[in-house]
Amino acid sequence: MAGACSLGLPLVLLLAVARASSPGTVVRLNKAALDYVSDMGKAPLQRALQVTVSDFLDPSGEVLQSTSVQILDVHLPHLHLEFIAGLGVRLSAASNFTVKVFCVPEPMELVLPVTLVANVHVARDSIGTPVLSILACSSIFSPARMLEGRNSTSQELLDLVQEHMKADLSNKLCLHVSGLVQDLNVHLGTLIGLSPVGPESQIRYSMASEPTITSNYISLDVRAMLFLLGKPILLPLHGAHPFVLPWPSGNEGAMATVGLSQHLFDCVLLMLQKAGSLDLDITGQLNSKTNPLDTSTLGQLIPEVAHQFPEPRPVVLKVQLGATPMATLHTNNSTLKLQPFVEVFAASPNSALHFLFSLDAIVNLSLQLSVSKAKLRGTTSVLGEVQLSVATSNVGSIDMDQAYTLISTVFQKPLLEHLNALLGMGIALPSVLNLHYVRSEVSVCEGYVVISSGLAYQR
Ligand SMILES: *[C@@H]1O[C@H](CO)[C@@H](O)[C@H](O)[C@H]1NC(C)=O
Ligand SMILES: *[C@@H]1O[C@H](CO)[C@@H](O)[C@H](O)[C@H]1NC(C)=O
Ligand SMILES: *[C@@H]1O[C@H](CO)[C@@H](O)[C@H](O)[C@H]1NC(C)=O
Ligand SMILES: *[C@@H]1O[C@H](CO)[C@@H](O)[C@H](O)[C@H]1NC(C)=O
Ligand SMILES: *[C@@H]1O[C@H](CO)[C@@H](O)[C@H](O)[C@H]1NC(C)=O
Repeated sequence: MAGACSLGLPLVLLLAVARASSPGTVVRLNKAALDYVSDMGKAPLQRALQVTVSDFLDPSGEVLQSTSVQILDVHLPHLHLEFIAGLGVRLSAASNFTVKVFCVPEPMELVLPVTLVANVHVARDSIGTPVLSILACSSIFSPARMLEGRNSTSQELLDLVQEHMKADLSNKLCLHVSGLVQDLNVHLGTLIGLSPVGPESQIRYSMASEPTITSNYISLDVRAMLFLLGKPILLPLHGAHPFVLPWPSGNEGAMATVGLSQHLFDCVLLMLQKAGSLDLDITGQLNSKTNPLDTSTLGQLIPEVAHQFPEPRPVVLKVQLGATPMATLHTNNSTLKLQPFVEVFAASPNSALHFLFSLDAIVNLSLQLSVSKAKLRGTTSVLGEVQLSVATSNVGSIDMDQAYTLISTVFQKPLLEHLNALLGMGIALPSVLNLHYVRSEVSVCEGYVVISSGLAYQR
């Protein structure tokens, strides 16, 4: 699917492709995530509700008396959030406002119970970020009461103050909640930030369509775009299967379930290959225990090498991945197939390289995936035997049966170390600023990977 990995196409074509194919990644937030947001959101909401109250004009006296009113404290023990299918999230919060009225001769303190209810619409904006908006908001005021141990003012005054509070606060409270939601939108906008994958490559996620919201979860189709030297990577169209993450998937109790399609893996591997990140040079040193490959050891197996290099010279292997590595995802088993092209050179005293021969290699690797912070990391180990066959030779015929052990030993370890260092750096998962994945479990399914994870907001 070109849509997932491209930006460079004309917009019309891009839209057509995107509609016909999958976004590659699904991020599903479950009820546990909403509970976490409730916990995190309680204190900011409590602060936002501590608004300034207009002066109270007491009409009971002979002249209008202007009296200042102050909210001393907002007690909000619990913020309740629940999904509204097809719409977003319902917020409800019961609170007690402690209010001081500076009336003469003595000020009075009262407690005003206020319940706030708001429906928050969750949508996708034009640039592919999630955007929240308040659809309906109301504050419900229950009868105020004087604080205990204080002398009661007249019920009439209490009623008047309460009317004043109601008129003054009902819009203000919703406006402040709306302000809080705007701040949250700025934060959610960081979803589309570019994250580095390697020195020259980056990944960017954005929402591909409107979210799906049920009473159990909200699900976002997130498109990954990969860039190499600032240009989007284009994937050939084949292999474009619409990606649907079944429900339930992974651990239902986890806050987030993230599904990564085969296609995303293909894109990432293509990018790493195009960036040359997978290529490496393996340089032998004379008399080295770790890399015994030099022209004299090679000369014992290939007579022409001994003939051309009577004095031992170091041997250099240039390993390049001409073909894109292939990841295969089967239940409980992910593998990676590399087809490196290996050129073997002898280094002369002036460092010039003399081409000896080249090999086509096939390496099957098992791939273990893990998540730390907001990155998917991989570790590989070789499955079975590395397959080596001679591609071209400058040193006559080569008996691979003879040379195999030497070359595969010299070649395998540095390749694995290189690959594991690269995959260990990890690739950023969809997230927003300061939001980390914690206690993540990765499971490999048929054609996709599921991450079940907790989330933690850490500044
Ligand atoms: C408000 O105060 C009353 C009386 O103390 C109490 O019963 C009620 O639970 C409080 N409500 C909240 C939301 O704190
Ligand atoms: C309450 O009012 C009574 C009489 O009006 C007065 O004697 C008493 O001191 C007052 N108590 C307080 C706590 O203000
Ligand atoms: C995959 O692994 C899980 C957990 O170890 C196990 O419960 C499940 O049966 C395995 N599935 C297959 C098809 O091997
Ligand atoms: C995973 O699949 C590969 C290739 O199909 C196979 O060689 C390997 O034994 C499998 N590993 C496990 C743990 O099933
Ligand atoms: C790699 O794995 C594939 C599929 O399991 C198998 O057909 C092939 O023989 C393996 N190649 C090597 C070099 O192990």
